[in-house]
Amino acid sequence: MGADYRVFAATFLTVVLSVSAYKPVILLHGIFEPASSMNALQDLVTKAHPGTNVTIIDEYTELFSLYPMWEQVRGFQKTMAPIMQQAKDGVHIICYSQGGLICRGVLESMDDHNVDTFISLSSPLMGQYGDTEYLKYVFPHYLKENLYKVAYTSYGQDISISNYWNDPHHQDLYKENSVFLAVLNNQTAKNDKSKEYKNNFLKLKKLVLIGGPDDGVITPWQSSHFGFYDDNETVVEMKEQEVYQRDYFGLKTMDARGDVTTYEIPGVQHLNWHKNLTVFNDYIEKWLT
Ligand SMILES: *[C@@H]1O[C@H](CO)[C@@H](O)[C@H](O)[C@H]1NC(C)=O
Ligand SMILES: *[C@@H]1O[C@H](CO)[C@@H](O)[C@H](O)[C@H]1NC(C)=O
Ligand SMILES: *[C@@H]1O[C@H](CO)[C@@H](O)[C@H](O)[C@H]1NC(C)=O
Ligand SMILES: *[C@@H]1O[C@H](CO)[C@@H](O)[C@H](O)[C@H]1NC(C)=O
Repeated sequence: MGADYRVFAATFLTVVLSVSAYKPVILLHGIFEPASSMNALQDLVTKAHPGTNVTIIDEYTELFSLYPMWEQVRGFQKTMAPIMQQAKDGVHIICYSQGGLICRGVLESMDDHNVDTFISLSSPLMGQYGDTEYLKYVFPHYLKENLYKVAYTSYGQDISISNYWNDPHHQDLYKENSVFLAVLNNQTAKNDKSKEYKNNFLKLKKLVLIGGPDDGVITPWQSSHFGFYDDNETVVEMKEQEVYQRDYFGLKTMDARGDVTTYEIPGVQHLNWHKNLTVFNDYIEKWLT
């Protein structure tokens, strides 16, 4: 009887712990990447926290990652919704590079999300303004100085990169024509949903911003921390940004709540954030409880 009870209790505990110990984790890949690019991170999570249900969303990979951002947001949201519904204590999301902006879109536009912690892994959260290989691939005839001519048109906005192109010298055009980032940031002239987006965003419990000066792709790299260039191409940090100061989408409120953590990590190039063991051990693992 006693032995039976102990076996029963041990089994019971094992089941309870494996069900409730760690919240499910959802991983979103970066631009041009296959879903398998997130396998290393998935392995790191399951090795550190055995039993964690880690889902890599295999959508809008490689060239499909150039689809318009809102379309991708809707697609990812559809796949994430049932995972969230089954996770009564909520889920964590780790979203890499462009994936971080998709996660912002999901968080702001989904009124019944239950994301506990959003870890943004070197994402251009305030947009991008820089010449990169990615840009050359998509717009071979444009440099950053004149990309606004195509990015801020209706056909330009059919390509993901243009949706978060943030030209500090053409802010009027950006605010008028960016159908994604300027809307998420409530920088457009009119945004009927801005209050709703803010409320949804504030349902997030913790925001973790990871980025660093040796990234080499996100430009300025401080965009990963909600900083960005002013019209003089001087970086203005998050707390000095108008969207923060006027709390346009809840960032200031969340920060005042004590729920925004920023990590500046040197020595990591863009393609290594989701594969680097020390980045995972020192800055990611502790949030995945
Ligand atoms: C992981 O989560 C998904 C989505 O909620 C679920 O369908 C699947 O059965 C889970 N896998 C395990 C091993 O629990
Ligand atoms: C622009 O940057 C230059 C060089 O750093 C500086 O001298 C100048 O004062 C800046 N102008 C403004 C308007 O901030
Ligand atoms: C969004 O911006 C408009 C001004 O452009 C402002 O009236 C509105 O309150 C803002 N929304 C939020 C949620 O701050
Ligand atoms: C891994 O990250 C650490 C910082 O945590 C950094 O010093 C190191 O250079 C990185 N290595 C690679 C290969 O990215």
